[in-house]
Amino acid sequence: MSALVPSGIVKIADIGCGYGSLAGYMRETPNCSRFVYTGYDINPTLIAACQQYSHLPSKSFVIGDCPTELVDFSVMSGTYNMAVTKDLIHWERYMFRCLAKCWDQSRIGMIFNVLVADKSHISDGMLYHCEVDKLRRRCIKQFGTTRIIRERSLPRDATLVVTRQKFSG
Ligand SMILES: C[S@@+](CC[C@H](N)C(=O)[O-])C[C@H]1O[C@@H](n2cnc3c(N)ncnc32)[C@H](O)[C@@H]1O
Repeated sequence: MSALVPSGIVKIADIGCGYGSLAGYMRETPNCSRFVYTGYDINPTLIAACQQYSHLPSKSFVIGDCPTELVDFSVMSGTYNMAVTKDLIHWERYMFRCLAKCWDQSRIGMIFNVLVADKSHISDGMLYHCEVDKLRRRCIKQFGTTRIIRERSLPRDATLVVTRQKFSG
């Protein structure tokens, strides 16, 4: 996000914020004060915990699966990893419906990660793994320019950075 927007205020929606660890990370990391954070989660218990224990005002945490207002970026870390069905088509359809709702509210783009496999599947432990190039093609077709970030220390993880045309460089 810093590379795409080198200066100024950046509004982000952390979709699937869990216990708000990104908010905590941003608080402790230098140069993050220009990021204006709102966390969203479909789990009301987690949102209540964030509202109670985070350093941010309680309105910074909202129950939901997409931003309720326009933001610069939607970010999702691990949000779509835990599938609630064994039906891959069904799960991917659900994930793309969620992504489309986030995309509609994201001025610059969205950034999300997935577990990587040679062939898309849902594991016995109900974790969604996907063929990243296929996912990238679908993101390009449905949304916009999509780059993949791989990190050597996390070989089974890929981050997709989807941006609107005028921000894609
Ligand atoms: C693996 S946790 C990751 C939490 C956090 N992002 C982190 O990195 O610590 C996934 C979170 O996403 C939430 N979640 C799952 N599906 C969601 C959806 N469609 N929209 C919003 N939140 C969702 C879950 O309730 C859970 O808190």
